[in-house]
Amino acid sequence: VTVYVPCDSAALSVGADLVAAELEAAGRPIRVVRNGSRGMLWLEPLVEVVTDRGRIGYGPVEPERVGDLVAAGLLDGADHELCQGVVDQLPWLADQTRICFARVGITDPLSPEDYLAHGGMAGLRRALARSGGDVVAEVTESGLRGRGGAGFPAGIKWKTVADTPGPDKFVCCNADEGDSGTFADRMLMEGDPFTLVEGMTIAGYAVGAQEGYIYIRSEYPDAVRTMRKAIEIARAQGWLGGDVLGSGVRFDLHVRVGAGAYICGEETAMLESLEGKRGMVRAKPPIPAITGLFGKPTVVNNVLTLASVPAILADGAPAYQALGVERSRGTQVFQLAGNIARGGVFETAFGLSLRDLVERYGGATRTGRPIRAVQVGGPLGAYVPESGLDLPLEYEAFASAGAMLGHGGIVVFDDTVDMAAMARFAMEFCAEESCGKCTPCRVGAVRGVEVIDRIVAGEDPDGNLALLGDLCELMTDGSLCAMGGLTPMPVRSALLHFPDDFTARH
Ligand code: NAI
Ligand code: SF4
Repeated sequence: VTVYVPCDSAALSVGADLVAAELEAAGRPIRVVRNGSRGMLWLEPLVEVVTDRGRIGYGPVEPERVGDLVAAGLLDGADHELCQGVVDQLPWLADQTRICFARVGITDPLSPEDYLAHGGMAGLRRALARSGGDVVAEVTESGLRGRGGAGFPAGIKWKTVADTPGPDKFVCCNADEGDSGTFADRMLMEGDPFTLVEGMTIAGYAVGAQEGYIYIRSEYPDAVRTMRKAIEIARAQGWLGGDVLGSGVRFDLHVRVGAGAYICGEETAMLESLEGKRGMVRAKPPIPAITGLFGKPTVVNNVLTLASVPAILADGAPAYQALGVERSRGTQVFQLAGNIARGGVFETAFGLSLRDLVERYGGATRTGRPIRAVQVGGPLGAYVPESGLDLPLEYEAFASAGAMLGHGGIVVFDDTVDMAAMARFAMEFCAEESCGKCTPCRVGAVRGVEVIDRIVAGEDPDGNLALLGDLCELMTDGSLCAMGGLTPMPVRSALLHFPDDFTARH
């Protein structure tokens, strides 16, 4: 009997290794395969048993319960209170459109055979049969936009790198996933690392780069280990190196571990860090596409952007373009976190409403209390009030509502949240994480904390509220990068939608 037990770090944190060990010690002929996580984090560790009806899931399985479950017929897919039925048919999974995450949770992440059997390398093969320019054109036509948060068209960025002359170019993957409530980059790297290898190789071929770096935050040791192993295996398979898939194309990859600062996720600070320097933001222009790593033309893309590329090349741009709405094409991998009944990853075409995602799929709050606010797009994203939950998940709709989709992180709060405290936290976070290069952010964030404290203490609320408004304007317009530039977004949204939280006590 084949049994799947996830090796994703979210599953490991709730005992998946012990569950695997207990199953192997159960005295039955079992083959335990370690897969990535399906993304239903409330069911982890989710054990899946292969039966002739499909893969039957049991979860959450505590290590102590493995013996009882085996005795109760788990290996035959027997019914049990922890039995979830056929995993693929659970609405959470069946309702998703998984492109980036198509293989995550299904395959053994480090098995090249599994990868090929589930469509791996089809995109790279198709890319190598065409010119680099055609590959760039296909990515542009697909409508793929940067999934790191800014949503810049990936094909246009690649074209800038391809058109910039020079013998040395680089592809850098930004895996410094620092936003609160985000974990999709990590799950992809731990659950299907070859997809990132393939996407980066396609990018390298398309723009004429022969080397790539994956910059992974130090807080992700499992992802670092998995990516490093995947690169070794890919070299042995001839997927990387001097003769990629026998095409004569040269491309190789390296993993670098991040320096532990949020700002190293800003692309130019990441490049500084990759060069061995302190992670400080560089002024743009010049943009990294022209003057990037070691001063060379460089593609800097997020994990999910690059991981979307193999499917685009394999199935063609029109198939990807057909998904989504308006200028947001394809799928986004949303991450549900915070006070939510069912947290995890949910990949869907753009256009679903935030309410559907949070209430229908996320099951609303874990505490059972009413939702008061949802922060979308990380710690620098806006707080959307309950009345705004019908907003469609789409870049421009969010921008027009004074919010942002960002990297797709969604953090839910119930009616006990103090929004003045959340606004203060945004300023405090910025003061803590600022690289210090420019004054509006370095000094502004510290002043922001002080002025919010004065408002909450009831000191000249009108004057201090006006001062806070001015400060937000200055930080938005005068900061060198998005750290200082976006910090006012959560603050302003809290002030706009929850003004009483700032002043009602007085
Ligand atoms: P940006 O809008 O300045 O740039 C977006 C990308 O497009 C960059 O890679 C830039 O180099 C490139 N670009 C701009 N003009 C170009 C041109 N003409 N040709 C080629 N490439 C061009 O935004 P930035 O500062 O890179 O990112 C801000 C976003 O980052 C925020 O919206 C936020 O959502 C997100 N963010 C994500 C975090 C995460 O952990 N994933 C953390 C914090 C913020
Ligand atoms: Fe550094 Fe903040 Fe200025 Fe960005 S906005 S360059 S993080 S000081």
